Amino acid sequence: MAAIVNLTIDDRQIRAAQGEVLLWVALDNDIYIPHLCAYREEAHPAASCRLCFVEVEGRPTPVPACTLPVTEGLLVKTRSPQVDGLVAAGFELLMSNHRLDCKNCSANGNCELQRIAKARKLPLKPKNLSVLDKYLPVDDSAATIVYDPNKCVLCGQCVRACRHSGNGILGFARRGYSRVVTTFGNVPLGESNCTNCGECVKVCPVGALAEKQ
Ligand code: SF4
Ligand code: SF4
Ligand code: FES
Repeated sequence: MAAIVNLTIDDRQIRAAQGEVLLWVALDNDIYIPHLCAYREEAHPAASCRLCFVEVEGRPTPVPACTLPVTEGLLVKTRSPQVDGLVAAGFELLMSNHRLDCKNCSANGNCELQRIAKARKLPLKPKNLSVLDKYLPVDDSAATIVYDPNKCVLCGQCVRACRHSGNGILGFARRGYSRVVTTFGNVPLGESNCTNCGECVKVCPVGALAEKQ
């Protein structure tokens, strides 16, 4: 069994198992840190969304909380001008590549982007960057699932869930701005081996994957 360590997050004394990941320790203690791509069971997180930055005493620059194991005496601040600047920049970049249509979105009111915006007082609509809508076709070919790639934030949660469900239909294709979640062979969901189990819909933090109405 792992030793118990004492750490401080935002002036709160917290006890946790040594080596536990800071992001989950914070969230389990009701301290919110924005996050999209982290996954509890993942030993080596991709840390791709770049939203979970925190300030750690002794470190010259903010670090992603999803990559930091807790140790005795760790001193963490979830907010600082540097952290807030990084999160704001990361969020704006993300939203510049997102089709914002909350009114007509299945995730409205239960969306991680809305949550981050509210928690950090950030606008959903980018202020400084132009929105680059890719006008990708919505895939409604599956029996019970609709996939709108224009709303996907590339967090990878659906890819993992699909793999864990034993289906392994979903994966990433292409790089950079063209990166997209798609099926093996890039065929519509309805033409893939998708079983409509819905595990991907359950974990999608935004409205990119939804149950058909
Ligand atoms: S995914 Fe979230 S932010 Fe985007 S349109 Fe839907 S509710 Fe709005
Ligand atoms: S479809 Fe949803 S769960 Fe999958 S990568 Fe995009 S945002 Fe994440
Ligand atoms: S949750 Fe840490 S980088 Fe995405």
